Amino acid sequence: MNSIAATLSSEEKILFELRSLYQQSGYTKYKMSKFEEYDLYANNKDFLVSDHIITFTDTNGKLMALKPDVTLSIVRSSKDTDALRKVYYNENVYRVSPRSKGFQEIMQTGLECIGPIDDDCVLEVVKLARRSLELISKDFVLTVSDLDLLSAALDALRVTPDERAVILRCVAGKNSHELRRACESCGADPQAIVFLEELTGISGPPAEALAQLKELGFNDASLAPLKKLAESMENAGEGGGLRIDLSLTGDMNYYNSIIFQGYVNSIPSAILSGGRYDRLMRRMGKRSDAIGFAVYMDMLERFYADREETTEAAAKARRMINVALPKGRMGEKVYRFFAAAGLECPEILEENRKLIFENEATGVRYFWVKPSDVAVYVERGAADIGVCGKDILLEYEPDVYELLDLKTGICHMSVAGPADFKDDPRRTLRVATKFMNIASDYYAKLGRDIDIIHLNGSIELAPLLALSDVIVDLVETGTTLRENGLKEIETILPVSSRLIANKASYEFKYDAIGSICEALAKQVKTDD
Ligand code: PRP
Repeated sequence: MNSIAATLSSEEKILFELRSLYQQSGYTKYKMSKFEEYDLYANNKDFLVSDHIITFTDTNGKLMALKPDVTLSIVRSSKDTDALRKVYYNENVYRVSPRSKGFQEIMQTGLECIGPIDDDCVLEVVKLARRSLELISKDFVLTVSDLDLLSAALDALRVTPDERAVILRCVAGKNSHELRRACESCGADPQAIVFLEELTGISGPPAEALAQLKELGFNDASLAPLKKLAESMENAGEGGGLRIDLSLTGDMNYYNSIIFQGYVNSIPSAILSGGRYDRLMRRMGKRSDAIGFAVYMDMLERFYADREETTEAAAKARRMINVALPKGRMGEKVYRFFAAAGLECPEILEENRKLIFENEATGVRYFWVKPSDVAVYVERGAADIGVCGKDILLEYEPDVYELLDLKTGICHMSVAGPADFKDDPRRTLRVATKFMNIASDYYAKLGRDIDIIHLNGSIELAPLLALSDVIVDLVETGTTLRENGLKEIETILPVSSRLIANKASYEFKYDAIGSICEALAKQVKTDD
């Protein structure tokens, strides 16, 4: 047996350990087919991480799908009985990875507990989630929330479902600056806005967070699920690594009550995600309640490889705050924001072509990064935080937190064209741009048929050389347009620089990132 164990990779060993953990807790293995009828996913698209699904027609003519998710299959196969059904799985799913934007086969392991779910079931599942993380690494964080509290705060805003979805996205992105704007533009009650802001700002060790929730006015009954869970975890000696974070969200059409997400230090995004999904059960015509979680095993391969080759540089990256600064016209200004916040590194202002600068004394490492790449460095954890334009965030939708509007680098995204341009609706409009998604979305909303031409720079040239009719591009001073005889036709959106953070760094460097954010926010206010 030992010789077999020696041939296993670290991630294979973890898989066996997780399996044994779930089996010992009374969960039985659920094995399923690689395929499912496509209808199952088509009816529950919002539940899926990505709505791209690989389909094919079966020999009997039925449209089938390569499984993008496991929970839906398990729910479909479950019968409404009074008995608790406890299953675990270890399956490959096929979905578009948000990072690579291409289809990937992803190994997923996890468990589902279906039936009459009581506090003990919730406690058991959360404990197993925590133990799963602990098996992977001792350096982990499990964030927990009660979605019903957030749901109540959102209800009080009395906004439409579409407005609610926008507000929920701000909450999930820890984007408090846009949250306020979004609520105000819906005409929500000012008191309800303040309440939501305060609620979603609560993040910390359970006792602290629960005290804040109480102060906010929640009564004992509404705090009971979180309180009971936190106290039981603590009493069982399993309170370590647990945080309560009220900005944790999930699709409220599916999830309710307790939800949670797990992070392991050095893995750039959540490696575990789960919660109670009674609402999904109802949508699928089931009376039973349910709770479960999944562990994204595909992230472990890189993690263990890196851990085996731990270098001084890697140790330094963990210790310091790594900041991706946008190289170019905004760079120096942005650096000065950080320097004024106490993160000085004077060497960065010297004339040289170095790309990395560090100051051991202040614990900061700066990287000069192409502005459009900042979000990639932050999303993948090469940088903990960074500064990039809102244009980049909208175009690439990186999986990062948007913590602050620095109100600098102010410009706007516009449609521009020759001075005598007149749109001819009988023809397809040729649009040149660097921002394919923003431009496509804009014209899709107008219902205008376009031929989009992707360029990497000097966009203004395109209409001058009749390569396109118009351009969609950033306008700051308007000089480039003017000097090339072009005019602005329509403003699409305002743009400014934003402070963004990697989701895992946010958990593991919580205090440092929090105080940087606070110090930068003070300067933004002074600048107003
Ligand atoms: C940006 C943008 C416009 C110009 C607008 O280009 O794409 O071309 O700045 O600024 P203005 O209104 O102040 O003239 P950038 O300088 O980043 O270079 P690029 O053409 O390579 O994209």
